[in-house]
Amino acid sequence: MKLLLLFFLIATSTISVSASNIPNQIHPLRPQSGAAGHRIPGINCLSWRLAVETDNIRDWDVVPATCENYVGHYMLGHQYRKDCDAAAAAAYEYAKSLKLKGDGKDAWVFDIDETSLSNLPYYALPENAFGAKEYNETSFQEWELKGIAPPVPATLYLYKNLLRLGYKIVFLSGKKENLRAITEKNMKNSGYHTWEKLILKQSDDSGLTALAYKSKRRTALVKAGYRILGNMGDQWSDILGLNVGNRTFKLPNPMFYIA
Ligand SMILES: *[C@@H]1O[C@H](CO)[C@@H](O)[C@H](O)[C@H]1NC(C)=O
Ligand SMILES: *[C@@H]1O[C@H](CO)[C@@H](O)[C@H](O)[C@H]1NC(C)=O
Ligand SMILES: [Mg+2]
Repeated sequence: MKLLLLFFLIATSTISVSASNIPNQIHPLRPQSGAAGHRIPGINCLSWRLAVETDNIRDWDVVPATCENYVGHYMLGHQYRKDCDAAAAAAYEYAKSLKLKGDGKDAWVFDIDETSLSNLPYYALPENAFGAKEYNETSFQEWELKGIAPPVPATLYLYKNLLRLGYKIVFLSGKKENLRAITEKNMKNSGYHTWEKLILKQSDDSGLTALAYKSKRRTALVKAGYRILGNMGDQWSDILGLNVGNRTFKLPNPMFYIA
């Protein structure tokens, strides 16, 4: 009986190559891992994450409640790290392909949160639910003030190689200036021991969106003579706008959206 069924499956899969049968072919091949949410009508969490990463879904507020588990597994499992590694590897290939002028103006811009440093220990707390709960500014700032965010390993690896290649590193963050001391301490303890500039949000930036603020700061860098050859961030607002750089690299972040 089993053999007959096996034969039947093989037979159908070999004969039905026509386009009209493709859904029937895909269904039995659908991988189970990463398919969380497929039973919930309307939300497939992998599709949701892909749409978020490609900026098809924008201005979303929280992770859909039915995807909390999926996002948690993604972030804590191997896939998030591998996705970051793939972005960093592509960035490194590009970075080392360029011939730098070496006049101290070959710049590479990195965002900080969820790019250089990871706030995953905070987001993994039950009350934060990997972004499936409303953002709590008070508790997030309490976490930031601890200054114990670990590095994103892929970014730290890229950072070290960029320094070796002679790039000037600029960290451009939406964190506020009053967090400078703890942020610099956290960065150094995490392995980011030097930089050209570490730019934080000033009081006169408070009305700006992240996209406008980062555009403004990058434009100032270009006016100061820097060539922004590369730019890496976890938000689209890090890599869209003015003077984004010759190439941009997007790290995954399915936990929150910043316009
Ligand atoms: C936000 O965090 C603060 C500090 O941890 C806590 O006291 C407060 O209850 C939280 N607010 C919500 C709405 O969960
Ligand atoms: C970077 O972009 C600028 C402006 O488009 C261009 O002039 C320059 O040649 C580019 N540099 C590299 C290394 O691609
Ligand atoms: Mg960020």
